[in-house]
Amino acid sequence: MTDRKATLTFDDKTLELPIYSPTLGPDVLDIRKLYAEGDVFTHDPGFTSTSACESTITFIDGEKGELLHRGYPIDQLAADSHYLEVCYLLLYGELPTRAQMEDFESRVIRHTMLHDQMVYFYRGFRRDAHPMAIIVGVMGAMSAFYHDSTDITDPWQREVASIRLIAKMPTIVAWAYKYSIGQPFVYPNNKLDYASNFLNMCFSVPAEEYKVNPILARAMDRIFTLHADHEQNASTSTVRLASSSGANPFACIAAGAACLWGPAHGGANQACLEMLREIGSVDRIPEFIARAKDKNDPFRLMGFGHRVYKNFDPRAKVMKQSADEVLDLLGIEDNPTLQVAKELEAQAIADPYFSEKKLFPNVDFYSGIILEAMGFPTSMFTPIFALSRTVGWISQWHEQLSDPAHKIGRPRQLYTGAPHRDYVPVDQRG
Ligand code: CMC
Repeated sequence: MTDRKATLTFDDKTLELPIYSPTLGPDVLDIRKLYAEGDVFTHDPGFTSTSACESTITFIDGEKGELLHRGYPIDQLAADSHYLEVCYLLLYGELPTRAQMEDFESRVIRHTMLHDQMVYFYRGFRRDAHPMAIIVGVMGAMSAFYHDSTDITDPWQREVASIRLIAKMPTIVAWAYKYSIGQPFVYPNNKLDYASNFLNMCFSVPAEEYKVNPILARAMDRIFTLHADHEQNASTSTVRLASSSGANPFACIAAGAACLWGPAHGGANQACLEMLREIGSVDRIPEFIARAKDKNDPFRLMGFGHRVYKNFDPRAKVMKQSADEVLDLLGIEDNPTLQVAKELEAQAIADPYFSEKKLFPNVDFYSGIILEAMGFPTSMFTPIFALSRTVGWISQWHEQLSDPAHKIGRPRQLYTGAPHRDYVPVDQRG
């Protein structure tokens, strides 16, 4: 922070606005007094130039294509760390010692089961419901099952709610899948690591022995790690806005998951794979690239472009490498969807439309390919993103509640509707 100020002059007013210098990234103008002193609002639909909070968790340099969690680059974390360690880092700010990691893991493991009555809650849904519809409902319903961790003024309850959410999300997501395919729920097995446990709950059945392939578990863990947090994106901002009213943690995280579901955000991985299937064969790629470039056609290349990254998404680089490893392991390089993906990527990158607009493949372009190869249906892609992002939502939620400057979120508007007018009874209307 500095004592530099910007001077804003309009009409007969001159206002001094403090300028803050962050550790990394562009300076920030503090406009909090603008309305009180200048009688004006700022107008920024989509918040393209607005900082809504102070944060120490994640930093993105969109021009360089860099993503840091608590200062550590995502490629180093993806290569050398693992998801639960990244969870600890995001939640508590530092990498754990061995003893801290063991303690954290054992606390997570003790909370993996769901309240048994939740089975009946699942059974109330239609079998053909989208798993995200079930997950949003179940996450919100946690506040009906875990009353002892909904008081946000109690730090102990906040901590328990965080651990419960991280621990139970694999079970919640796996059960939504099992329910949708009519198979029995598989209970968590605390002998397995976090990613293996999730795969086991998704793919094992009582009738047969199932052994989790460690390479697939590693790839799953990397998908979780790469999606763990992404600073003030739409779903995280939704969590913060919901939390600003004092709502309980489960309600806030369910709100974030609902926002994530949209195809411009976490729904893009499903939309991307469906698009690859629709393209169907390599010879149809030019037709779809032409549609993406046509201003009169709403079609966009799903899995391309990003609000912040104007360079290669650093998560996409790691995900692409992981995709190659998984496909190699499973021996399915000749899958037609994957061939379309590879060729589409090459043709779009070589096309000046995409390079001029700085549209590169994002994380969702490759994650869908890996998940499909692992045997997940497309409807499970966004739930897996929600599972991974839960720790980011919780870390940001904690940070917000600990910030003395936080207050209820209440944007203003540029009203362009009718001016004041008097009600006219129906028989007098022309
Ligand atoms: N295909 C074709 N054209 C595109 C695309 C695309 N995927 N993305 C952006 N553009 C064009 C857009 O038409 C616009 O052109 P013009 O300036 O001529 O009007 C220009 O690029 C800028 O687009 P924008 O919509 O103003 O950019 P934005 O920052 O508001 O949108 C985005 C970012 C991610 C919503 C958008 O790139 C998009 O819709 N991508 C496809 C969906 C997707 O893959 N989403 C996943 C994002 S990464 C994971 C996550 O955050 O959840």
